[in-house]
Amino acid sequence: MHLAKLKLRDFRNFRRLDVAFEPGFHVLLGRNAQGKTNLLEAVYLLATLRSFRGVGNAQIIRHEQRAFFAGGLALGQAESDIRYYWSAAQRKLTVNEKPIRRVADYLGALRTVVFCTEDSLLVNGPAKSRRRFLDLLLTQTRPGYLDLLHRYTEALRSRNALLKRDSPDLALLDSFTRELVATGEKLIVARHQLVKKLLPLIRLGYRKIAAKPEDARIDYAPSVREDFAVDLAKSRAREQRYRTTLVGPHRDELKLTLDGQPAAQYASEGQKRTFAIALKMAQADYLGGIHGSPPILLIDDVMGELDAGRRAGLLPLISRVGQALGQVFMTCTEENWPGELTGNLHRWQVDQGAVSRKQ
Ligand SMILES: Nc1ncnc2c1ncn2[C@@H]1O[C@H](COP(=O)(O)OP(=O)(O)O)[C@@H](O)[C@H]1O
Ligand SMILES: [Mg+2]
Repeated sequence: MHLAKLKLRDFRNFRRLDVAFEPGFHVLLGRNAQGKTNLLEAVYLLATLRSFRGVGNAQIIRHEQRAFFAGGLALGQAESDIRYYWSAAQRKLTVNEKPIRRVADYLGALRTVVFCTEDSLLVNGPAKSRRRFLDLLLTQTRPGYLDLLHRYTEALRSRNALLKRDSPDLALLDSFTRELVATGEKLIVARHQLVKKLLPLIRLGYRKIAAKPEDARIDYAPSVREDFAVDLAKSRAREQRYRTTLVGPHRDELKLTLDGQPAAQYASEGQKRTFAIALKMAQADYLGGIHGSPPILLIDDVMGELDAGRRAGLLPLISRVGQALGQVFMTCTEENWPGELTGNLHRWQVDQGAVSRKQ
């Protein structure tokens, strides 16, 4: 699958952009603050309808404008002409001119995996970052998962609001508990299955990048020990004290270890970066395996952070995606340009919100 065309209007610092991309490896070159990351953000937005910078759509609108437009032509087994218009008052999404009303119905027309410096949060950050990683991947691969997650979150919110009251209506609490358990149990099963499939991909990916025999592992550690309903019932007394739901998938952890030691505490900076990249490579491999073609890789400022050895391990993995009729977009400044990059590259210069082909 690849993104054959990208059209932006009033998107960040792009007033107007109309550009066509072949499959393959695209390098976006430019000084700082020219729009390289914004361009990756636009591709990601077309895939997920949100920013990987974790901001709302309002911030994406070019300063002093009222709306943005992002459009793309995704070519793969199917052809999808995606058009997304967004203003505070109105949002419109169409695929091949068919209006899409629910976000949950959309995901899948374009698939991307982002590599960015914030990925270090996967290793160093709170459990929430790792849950989000699993949830995004499940959303990209399991129909119905997003709906399930929304239902769970909604039940949790209602249940917690009720627990804040001095004397909660017990019948109502029961009904929220039932919904929480029904949806939560399915989330747990899905996360279990995913982690099992990701583990071998991560071990392998880590070894290739690090060229060291360290054993990188992920282990799913659900907050529910045996039975969700039973665990909830057991936590009732504590719940009353803390006035919030204390067990459930919203408290799951994904443990990352290197040779059996927790990565966040024991790994070196280089090992942590490698781990974060191995997680993302595993995401790409897994998506490629399920859908039969690799996702688009969006690589932002990652190369400059790696030492030569790790770069040499990572570049072949990335290039492989670029060759297999897939597509890679990678940002670089002149300073962090990886000298190892040669071969069939498409080079683009990004300069103050304009994109042009280089040589
Ligand atoms: N909503 C916006 N409207 C206009 N310009 C924006 C908006 N958001 C960010 N920018 C501008 O985009 C530029 C940063 O682009 P970015 O893609 O992050 O740069 P880089 O090329 O370093 O990756 C900055 O000049 C910033 O002021
Ligand atoms: Mg940038």
